[in-house]
Amino acid sequence: MPGFELFGEAEKAQVNDVLDSGVLMRYGFDGMRNGHWKAKELEKAFSERMQTKYAQVLSSGTAALTVALQSAGIGAGDEVIMPTFTFVASFESILAIGAIPVLVDIDDTLTLDPHAVAKAITKRTKVVMPVHMCGSMADLAALKAICTQHNLLLLEDACQAIGGTYQGKPLGSYGDLGCFSFDYVKTITCGEGGALITNNETYYKNADHYSDHGHDHVGTDRGAETHPFLGYNFRISELNAAVGCAQVKRLDEFLAIQKQQYTILREALEGIDGVTFRRVPKGGTENYSFLNFFLPTQEKARMVHKALGAAGVDACFYWYDNNWHYYRKWEHLTKLTSLGKFPKEILDGLPDYGKADFSKSDVWMGRTISSLVKLSWTPEEVKNRAHLMVRTITEGLQD
Ligand SMILES: Cc1ncc(COP(=O)(O)O)c(C=O)c1O
Repeated sequence: MPGFELFGEAEKAQVNDVLDSGVLMRYGFDGMRNGHWKAKELEKAFSERMQTKYAQVLSSGTAALTVALQSAGIGAGDEVIMPTFTFVASFESILAIGAIPVLVDIDDTLTLDPHAVAKAITKRTKVVMPVHMCGSMADLAALKAICTQHNLLLLEDACQAIGGTYQGKPLGSYGDLGCFSFDYVKTITCGEGGALITNNETYYKNADHYSDHGHDHVGTDRGAETHPFLGYNFRISELNAAVGCAQVKRLDEFLAIQKQQYTILREALEGIDGVTFRRVPKGGTENYSFLNFFLPTQEKARMVHKALGAAGVDACFYWYDNNWHYYRKWEHLTKLTSLGKFPKEILDGLPDYGKADFSKSDVWMGRTISSLVKLSWTPEEVKNRAHLMVRTITEGLQD
């Protein structure tokens, strides 16, 4: 997944443009900036690549989720449905605006189970937030049908699946809003950064204003701009955006390498009796950032994961035991451990996750191992890796 592996001269040239002009901020300083508007340039390139009318580039993927929710008017006490398998940023962004994260089960796509989503809807539900984890997507047609029926917003977290598609559309562009991260371990990086995309002009304008303290961005005098509503600062710097300008041009090159490496690993593992693969919904194409596979039992998966590490196969993940990506280890959420006091709406509305039953998610996550797909592996390295994985998994399944 990491674009930073192929980081080079194009990125340096873009950053040097910014350093030469001395304008590190994305707004204002028109006279000084020597025609360089890196964040704007990145927004144009990104919205074109993602086939949406608008893109707002932001300081992180977490910022993108928070701004996306705010831009659609989601607030205190509103319920947002999210999966048990994701990154903590999902509930962080929801809690940040006083809304309530409603966790629901995943299925063999490793993303939201549409049946579980339908069951979780209440009169306070406003958003369904699928998270396209590890390079592949949720069943978006089923989720969209639910959203249409209940008048809910479909907000796609495509942070880990940039470049994947569903029914021919780039992931993130199918729902009402889509969010991306350009942090240091994503397929393309800005160092730190993120973006939201949408075809809805109101959401876009709200996002543009909200992420810059409510500035309406009318005219050329920042101090004289008005503030139609309260905002915050989720701006990206020009330095970070400059890196993104170089990386976005290389996205398709990175995706092609990812697919090539993935295919070698996948074809090797397909020959092992007892290994099955994550289901990709009909009409979907992965971005190939991870190879995700199931072993027959939780015990086998945990043991094989350990054996892979011991055999020197790096960057394999057993999410079931992971502190950041699976609900089992989110005690800080379940116990609401925070530095300050939470809004009443959250205290009153948050389900008692201590008593929740996510055994359906456990069935899949307990059996899942994910291998990161690196761009920098040489053909020799990826072949050796495939060989080592096959040997270790086969031995593990025989034990
Ligand atoms: C699925 C998902 N959503 C959101 C984020 C947050 O992105 P960022 O690190 O840019 O805040 C991440 C980052 O790992 C992620 O994996």
